[in-house]
Amino acid sequence: MNIITPTADGSNTLYNETIGEHYHSKHGALQESKHVFIEAGLKFSSEGKSEISILEVGFGTGLNFILSFDYCSQNDIHLDYTSIEAFPLTKNVINQTGYAEYVSPQIWADFISSYDESLKSQQTLSTFCELEIRHTTLSEFYTKKRFDLIYYDAFSVQHQPEMWSDEIIAHTCSFLKPGGTFVTYAITGKLKRAIKANDLRIEKLPGAPGKREMLRAVKGI
Ligand SMILES: C[S@@+](CC[C@H](N)C(=O)[O-])C[C@H]1O[C@@H](n2cnc3c(N)ncnc32)[C@H](O)[C@@H]1O
Repeated sequence: MNIITPTADGSNTLYNETIGEHYHSKHGALQESKHVFIEAGLKFSSEGKSEISILEVGFGTGLNFILSFDYCSQNDIHLDYTSIEAFPLTKNVINQTGYAEYVSPQIWADFISSYDESLKSQQTLSTFCELEIRHTTLSEFYTKKRFDLIYYDAFSVQHQPEMWSDEIIAHTCSFLKPGGTFVTYAITGKLKRAIKANDLRIEKLPGAPGKREMLRAVKGI
């Protein structure tokens, strides 16, 4: 069961009772998504580019996706977005998040009208955006595609340690292009070692409110 809960910046998140964790930071869902994934990830990785491919681990409510779609539309960047989600939410729950107010009405309409189909196959949402949500677990996910950017947005290591094992991090990094970027809200010594072992160069960046640091890493060319 997921319960809609307000966070400190006024945006909502969901509380997952089974896992015992929120989908986003309690200090601000919108703030966190913008800080970690849009500012440190998408802006950095798309600089000077007219197209970008993103792989997200944990689609959840789609907040990272709609903010990415909005950013790419405003900056004339073609977005090819693939997300992995083991337990997709219903469209009804997504409609109750209040996230429609953070993007243009057109972007929200394109997203909501394509959501169910994007769980079955890749959908073209606009001239700027393709979306596919793979209904599977990360360990079972496979594609021949390689991505410019990975958003690693799994539940925390305290609640889902299997999502932060050396093996699953190696599996995830294998989908990055040479020179591609990996971003996540978390940073631990174990995670840094696992990332470095996959030929990525690590940067520690200031974290979103409530977290001192976050991790960005770039794969060797
Ligand atoms: C922190 S939430 C993601 C939040 C999301 N990015 C958003 O903006 O709403 C983690 C997500 O990972 C999903 N998940 C849990 N276990 C998974 C697994 N083994 N493989 C893929 N996704 C998983 C959960 O269902 C949840 O949607």
